[in-house]
Amino acid sequence: MVFNDPQSPAWTPLLEAAWEARSHAHAPYSGFQVGAALLTSAGTVFGGCNVENAAYPVCLCAERGALSAAVAAGLRPGNLVAAVVVTDVAELTPPCGACRQALVEFAGDLPVLLANRQARQLHRLADLLPHSFTGAHFR
Ligand code: THU
Repeated sequence: MVFNDPQSPAWTPLLEAAWEARSHAHAPYSGFQVGAALLTSAGTVFGGCNVENAAYPVCLCAERGALSAAVAAGLRPGNLVAAVVVTDVAELTPPCGACRQALVEFAGDLPVLLANRQARQLHRLADLLPHSFTGAHFR
């Protein structure tokens, strides 16, 4: 599977979308700009950036921004193929706990590539969020 290799060219459109979205980040409070991109099984890539707010709890992460765009365009659970998160800091940025939970709703497992301009690191959502809580626990 192409998304098992962090250097695979298959990541290129996701990385481009994530960097492009990041350039639109609204992060005046943290100064920390994040971009994300999601690939669906229909072959569509959705970008997202963080959107901060003077009322801090209202801040939205890049990953959930991308997820909202994908769902609004028709993404259904099970149809998420891969995710990318980009920042320009040396230590690669993993999705926060809330974003891991939001993603697991649409993909029990998912390759998640963390990147900056120099480095890439590949994880699996099932490793980032083990023993996750899902609708199967109460339905
Ligand atoms: N942030 C993201 O957008 N995604 C992450 O994976 C980590 C954190 C944002 C939220 C906030 O706007 C800023 O980074 C600092 O926490």
